Amino acid sequence: MDKLILQGGHVLQGEVRISGAKNAALPILAGSLLATAPVKITNMPHLRDITTMMELTGGMGVRFVLDDQMGVEVYAEDIQRFEAPYELVKTMRASILVLGPLLTRFGSARVSFPGGCAIGARPVDLHLKGMEKLGAKINIDNGYIHATAPNGLHGCDISFDTVTVTGTENLMMAAVLAKGVTTLHHAAREPEVVDLANYLNTLGAKISGAGTDTIVIDGVKELGGGQYAVMPDRIEAGTFLVAAAITRGKIKLKQVAPTTMLQIIHKLTEAGADIQMDDNTISLDMHGKRPKAVRLSTAPYPGFPTDMQAQMIALNTVAEGVGHIVETIFENRFLHVQEMQRMGAQIVLEGNTAIITGKERLTGAPVMATDLRASASLVLAGLVAEGETTIERIYHIDRGYEVIEEKLSQLGAKIYREHS
Ligand code: EPZ
Repeated sequence: MDKLILQGGHVLQGEVRISGAKNAALPILAGSLLATAPVKITNMPHLRDITTMMELTGGMGVRFVLDDQMGVEVYAEDIQRFEAPYELVKTMRASILVLGPLLTRFGSARVSFPGGCAIGARPVDLHLKGMEKLGAKINIDNGYIHATAPNGLHGCDISFDTVTVTGTENLMMAAVLAKGVTTLHHAAREPEVVDLANYLNTLGAKISGAGTDTIVIDGVKELGGGQYAVMPDRIEAGTFLVAAAITRGKIKLKQVAPTTMLQIIHKLTEAGADIQMDDNTISLDMHGKRPKAVRLSTAPYPGFPTDMQAQMIALNTVAEGVGHIVETIFENRFLHVQEMQRMGAQIVLEGNTAIITGKERLTGAPVMATDLRASASLVLAGLVAEGETTIERIYHIDRGYEVIEEKLSQLGAKIYREHS
């Protein structure tokens, strides 16, 4: 398996273009199953998960034409199969997002039950409860969700016990062709939910309230085609901001959406970063100073994103002072901590709180990636560790970061990929 090798101690400086958002592109590709005419999607990130979603929907009959500008034409007018097989679902939990579109357009879906993953049990009970409220018949046997809607889906009120991003997205898509009006209460407010709603409305859906906790979907007969650009990836952008902050450097991000990252910007400013922004760029400069420790709690949007938690722990490991990071969304999202401890980080875990006493330096070591964002945080730690850091199992990183070693090398990092 490939590994990343880093030599720490180099200050990052320069400019980097941020890719399209993985967590917007995935529901948008799943939602393309609803299109009865060709769709052109631009700013599509080049990631393992995106390829998996194309393979999954391709297996159902969707045809893709890729162009060399990160654009993809999608032809979904002729879908013959309604199944998401275990072999693909086990590599990407977001496959569950095909359930809503298949059910509402074809009245049938057979989706492998997504197992847990490194960061938690990740149940999908709220997805299934919502589908049943819309009129679906759901049963589960030999590890598959069988969903049918013989008389179509009908609009209703759905209230989520917990804020769920893909739960909101799945049910929003299921409601698009349901008869009547559906209201989602206690809905997720993430920018990626808004991006999906904007995309579906481009195809002819009638969705309002996305970005608030109450989303109203007025069912329509069918969706047509259209053209849409995926929003910038706020987590990739945040990760690169931390890469510059942790190495006391300076960076300019292009093709970003600063208004979707205000909590991340707020916390990095607290850490001592000088941040300037305009409509689609963010510049960060540490003026060579060591970052200051920060305290934060992850929360659903607009709170601090859990997908940036590991990166902020990495920053705190070399910051001045003691940082406190509380993880409130997932029950097991501190797997990166023991790997950073191997690099000399001083971190104590108390329940869902990590207490980090900053040190001047870490020391390079062989470490293991466990999940997508944890892997990115180990790269960040490797950037400031003395000597060499080797990161194994980096297939996790390739799921969510487009050619991370090339983008970091352009900024002055000493990092390369060893193929094996
Ligand atoms: C999405 O996952 C993202 N993935 C995750 O990003 C992100 O960490 C997460 O939202 C939280 O922001 C995609 O968008 C593809 P949830 P999702 O449903 O939708 C519980 C990454 O790194 N829950 O919002 O699966 C669940 O256990 C990934 O790109 C239920 O109990 O997360 C969790 O505790 C990692 N029942 C909480 O809700 C359900 O039916 C939030 O999960 C659904 C969720």
